[in-house]
Amino acid sequence: MLGGTGDEGFGLALRWAKHGHEIIIGSRSLERARTAAQNSAKLTGSDSVSGLVNEDAASKADIIVVSVPFGGLVETLRTVKRSLRQGHIVVNLTVPLETTVGGRATRTLGVWAGSAGELVSNLVPKGVRVVSAFNNVSAELLNDLSREVDCDVLVCANDEDAKKLVSGLVRALPGARAVDAGLLENSRTLEQLTALLVSLNIRYGVKSAGIRITGINPVS
Ligand SMILES: NC(=O)c1ccc[n+]([C@@H]2O[C@H](COP(=O)([O-])OP(=O)(O)OC[C@H]3O[C@@H](n4cnc5c(N)ncnc54)[C@H](OP(=O)(O)O)[C@@H]3O)[C@@H](O)[C@H]2O)c1
Repeated sequence: MLGGTGDEGFGLALRWAKHGHEIIIGSRSLERARTAAQNSAKLTGSDSVSGLVNEDAASKADIIVVSVPFGGLVETLRTVKRSLRQGHIVVNLTVPLETTVGGRATRTLGVWAGSAGELVSNLVPKGVRVVSAFNNVSAELLNDLSREVDCDVLVCANDEDAKKLVSGLVRALPGARAVDAGLLENSRTLEQLTALLVSLNIRYGVKSAGIRITGINPVS
């Protein structure tokens, strides 16, 4: 979990550790990574979480989740690029919010590659499979272990097997449902929804607005 010291990545790490997955929290600082891993152990009672600097975390994992602000995305991928191998799955949950350039969290930036997910795909070595998922899941909700993760998680990728594996990670979040959102290019739409959810949070005075898609019955 690159950037797993932050709210979103830490929340996902907690949930997956509780489910029994082995998690490595990545950070630019070894000390911050280790502290986050210790905090996770206290909160979950699970000792399946460790902390490493991002590049070491990436080299030891099969599925690498990138959970950094959009402004740090390119630099983070540059740092871990040499750790990425063919067959690795990189999950992008980054959203190009306008806050990156001092703007509002209710707006997104235009991304030259089309979306943050496609940008990740352009930057990783050949053979690394990129999936966009969890971009619309509230960190507030993930970190409150007393609550179910009551939302759908849109998952898009060009590789069907990678999409299925990541959908399995969605099912490890109690209450969440994975929805196959098609090709990685749909990350363009998916990422925009987060800005709308931020706006809804403000309008309704909450912190955990999420999405539900009706009229479909996704199977695993
Ligand atoms: N928060 C939410 O509710 C939410 C919901 C959906 C999607 N997201 C998306 O998830 C991503 C992470 O969100 P967050 O709220 O967890 O963000 P965050 O707390 O601001 O940052 C996460 C971590 O990224 C690292 N980081 C910060 N600036 C960086 C930079 N310039 N370069 C490299 N690493 C940097 C930091 O870790 P170290 O300092 O330890 O390296 C930080 O703890 C964002 O792209 C956000 O849009 C967030």
